[in-house]
Amino acid sequence: MTGVARMLAEIAHIGADPRGGYARPGYGDADRELREWFVGHARARGLDVHRDRNGIVWAWWHPPGSGGPAVVTGSHLDSVPGGGAYDGPLGVASALAAVDVMRARGDTPARPIAVGVFPEEEGSRFGLACLGSRLVSGAVSPERALALTDREGDTFADALRRDGLDPRHVGRDDEMLDAIGCFVELHVEQGRGLIDLGQPVAIGASILGHGRWRVTVDGQGNHAGTTLMGDRRDPMVAAARAVLEIRDIARGIPDARATVGRIEPVPGGTNVIASRVSFWIDARHPDDVVTAALIASVRDAVARVAAAEGCTATLQEESLSPTVDFDRGLRDRMRAALPDAPELGTGAGHDAGVLAERIPTAMLFVRNPTGISHSPEELVEDSDADKGAVALADALVAVAGDRTDASV
Ligand code: GLV
Ligand code: MN
Ligand code: MN
Repeated sequence: MTGVARMLAEIAHIGADPRGGYARPGYGDADRELREWFVGHARARGLDVHRDRNGIVWAWWHPPGSGGPAVVTGSHLDSVPGGGAYDGPLGVASALAAVDVMRARGDTPARPIAVGVFPEEEGSRFGLACLGSRLVSGAVSPERALALTDREGDTFADALRRDGLDPRHVGRDDEMLDAIGCFVELHVEQGRGLIDLGQPVAIGASILGHGRWRVTVDGQGNHAGTTLMGDRRDPMVAAARAVLEIRDIARGIPDARATVGRIEPVPGGTNVIASRVSFWIDARHPDDVVTAALIASVRDAVARVAAAEGCTATLQEESLSPTVDFDRGLRDRMRAALPDAPELGTGAGHDAGVLAERIPTAMLFVRNPTGISHSPEELVEDSDADKGAVALADALVAVAGDRTDASV
């Protein structure tokens, strides 16, 4: 087993989802155990570890003679429900391995190197993806974040307190961001791009614009046995029709993607006609204007199918992240260091996309031989993981500049 694979094997038992894959929601028990694992590895390497007021864990390496804002790498340790082993943890383990590679080679990066672990990247607990990076960068207000609730009804403020953080101190942290010059996140590829190109590693080009909307359909809760079919106002039927409409609308728009992956009937009983059904739409398109048009069509369709069932519906935006092109200068430096790596865009969201609002960011993708992600079938071969870690080390030195290189 190689370095990155060995580290990932150490956490393979943490947060296993009994239905398959992993369930590692942010700020929860599995997340805490994973964080302790990371801190242990960082301290064993003599890195200077600190958890900031937004719950981001930072591990600093100050190579002798280095100075200026840090070059940051890292990723996240939380997962979607039923997630794979690599989405997030690969970037964290590879960051530690890249530090090992740079030290073993005697590299002399001219700037400090930091590894960041960002909480609740998936938004699977509080609904808002990239919560840690949104807070530190000011992309979400503390007021809005603290009021978010999880499925148990606990607020984000409650979860922070339980996790040893003070809710009064979360929010935009310019001092932290000033200490960071740029962010380079390594991630498992979540599609088939590298399989098709026959390459182990790619340089990220862009992140597809994406957002989340909550639909609430209200009807009349009633008895499954005594309510005649013609007398019903069943929000589940309206929601089912709405899901099909959403699929058809997205199919009619080139490059659009729309998914309903979460649906919650209230109260949710086999012999109960629901009184309310909530479901969430994840929609993505490269052009944010097209996404807005898609959502406008969905809003009309949802209102229509709800009315046809005697129900009412509301649609509310929960988040919207525009398409991001990664920093051209960083990409060029990385390409000079990794001449064989193709440039690939991604349909997945990342902290590197949120942080791009405030600092230059870039990404590396490592081949996923199944092409599947957000699923237990997500995979990275051990040998590709090691190639990824070496590519990350090369990229970090290229971005930081070499202290002994007179041209820097
Ligand atoms: C995160 O992986 C997302 O794209 O939603
Ligand atoms: Mn991820
Ligand atoms: Mn993910």
